[in-house]
Amino acid sequence: MCGIVGIIGNKPAAPRLLEGLKRLEYRGYDSAGIATLENGHLDRRRASGKLFNLEAAQEADPLNGPIGIGHTRWASHGAPTVKNAHPIAAGTVAVVHNGIIENFLDLKSELEGHGKIFDTDTDTEVVAQLVAREIENGATPKQAVGTVLPRLEGAFALVFLFDGDTQTLIGARKGSPLALGKGEGEMYLGSDAIALAPLTSQVIYLEEGDWVVLSHTGHEIFDLTGAPVQRPWQQTSAYALLIDKGNHRNFMVKEIFDQPEVIGHTFANYIDLASRTVKQDALKVEFANLERLTVCACGTAFYAGMAAKYWFEKYARLPVDVDIASEFRYREAPLDKNGLALFISQSGETADTLAALQYCRDNGQKIASIVNVQESTIARDSDMIIPTFAGPEVGVASTKAFTCQLTVLACLAIAAGRARGHLTSAQEIALVSSLIGVPRHVADITNRSDEIEGVAKRIITARDILFLGRGINYPIALEGALKLKEISYIHAEGYAAGELKHGPIALVDDNVPVIIVAPRDNLFEKTVSNMQEVAARGGQIIMITDADEREGIGTELFDLIHVPKADAFINPLLYAIPVQLLAYHAAVLLGTDVDQPRNLAKSVTIE
Ligand code: F6R
Repeated sequence: MCGIVGIIGNKPAAPRLLEGLKRLEYRGYDSAGIATLENGHLDRRRASGKLFNLEAAQEADPLNGPIGIGHTRWASHGAPTVKNAHPIAAGTVAVVHNGIIENFLDLKSELEGHGKIFDTDTDTEVVAQLVAREIENGATPKQAVGTVLPRLEGAFALVFLFDGDTQTLIGARKGSPLALGKGEGEMYLGSDAIALAPLTSQVIYLEEGDWVVLSHTGHEIFDLTGAPVQRPWQQTSAYALLIDKGNHRNFMVKEIFDQPEVIGHTFANYIDLASRTVKQDALKVEFANLERLTVCACGTAFYAGMAAKYWFEKYARLPVDVDIASEFRYREAPLDKNGLALFISQSGETADTLAALQYCRDNGQKIASIVNVQESTIARDSDMIIPTFAGPEVGVASTKAFTCQLTVLACLAIAAGRARGHLTSAQEIALVSSLIGVPRHVADITNRSDEIEGVAKRIITARDILFLGRGINYPIALEGALKLKEISYIHAEGYAAGELKHGPIALVDDNVPVIIVAPRDNLFEKTVSNMQEVAARGGQIIMITDADEREGIGTELFDLIHVPKADAFINPLLYAIPVQLLAYHAAVLLGTDVDQPRNLAKSVTIE
């Protein structure tokens, strides 16, 4: 996750860019840079390390131009050196970038084939080079960006500055946030309203796929298809500026929409994007000779652990015991000598998880933890911390922390598979490649939030709802039921689809929606046959699937939520999103307090 600011103004931009970057430092701080137009010509100052190094560089040799862009970087492609610090320049173009360009290797080899030389190790440079090439061939900056954007795959935000053009700044968003702001004869761009707070309180949050051309006094926004669109100006509130909720009505939905960005940010810590391999050293765990892994967590974090069991057992042939921490701590489980116990927690303060950790430590286990709050007690009490990078999660119902936990666990499972000799190098590359595609697919799903709201409208009068899934999608069914009941207060249960006939099917009648998490994987046919059992009893079937229009389903569905087709490995990460959105919309329609549902607390520090 990186931070972006841009100013097309009428007084020196550099001090104001630096002020914006300070506010964005929470997004990354391994290098930083600014570029401005000095008498119309592009010049840059960049530095590795924290922002004060860039401030020193600017002080030593100041940039004074009124138009500029700035960036604080958290390295994904390429080491955090000055060379790789943004803005990245090529020809007449400078660009700052947050996110990942998935197809950068293909684009890079195309450009190299045409004789282009690359100066950096970043994926960003392909964007600068492509836009610069269009301009060399006679395009205007606006035409050049409009031509290049559709060629970029991934989830990202970009801001461009052009040598010799003092009237234009261009921004684009696809999967990563970008807001624009207006002042007196000036316009601004920033990763969030917090960055723009000293400049303006009037902002427009760009929507998915939007790109914008700014002049000093105006802006033109285009959507994904290139058609001009209008987006409303909003007044940012003082509270929003403490933790920016963007244009979302509450934190939970903001955090759902954050997922393309934070999932990418999380895996960028653990995989090498260029070689498409896992960074064994960053993942820290010694898997080669491990005989068994004990996983403990509560609630949503426990479901992440359950999903991980399928990954570890399938891809690494590593036996996994996964347990709810509040049960585990009292059941006096015998543990292997010198075993490894893995704890998963967003807050890092959950009392039951902490007590289970203590039990494992007392019984000679090495302790690894996946935590979001790195200063937490669980983190401090662990031998190895493998952080998620979800950022602060404010909504009580966990969403982005869950998918970031799954992301880390997916990386760990690949690392374990390699270390234990059960995955070949080619298999590792294929699995990592599918993981890199997750932010893009997640953005595709969040873009269809309105459709999912339509489904939510049809279920909110139900008294009971069942969620079914098989294999690794069973924990997602459990998570769907948990999410729905905790924020909408509708009674919901998750079941393994094959277990239905052993009891729960008695609940099914024509008033019971049954939500079936059913990707077209090796268990699809089995899940469909469980679905027929429900249909035969009049249940209202809502299928969440990547199957083509009712392909192979052979029954009348009450509704369908479509998910992009992807490698089965990443399905839990994708199918988590529609169940979150379904719960969210149901809760909003029922008028509950989505961010702070009754009787719950964000961090459960009591037994
Ligand atoms: C559900 C939810 C809870 C937490 C659980 C563990 O939406 O948020 O079930 O997952 O209380 O919390 P952490 O991850 O902080 O240990």
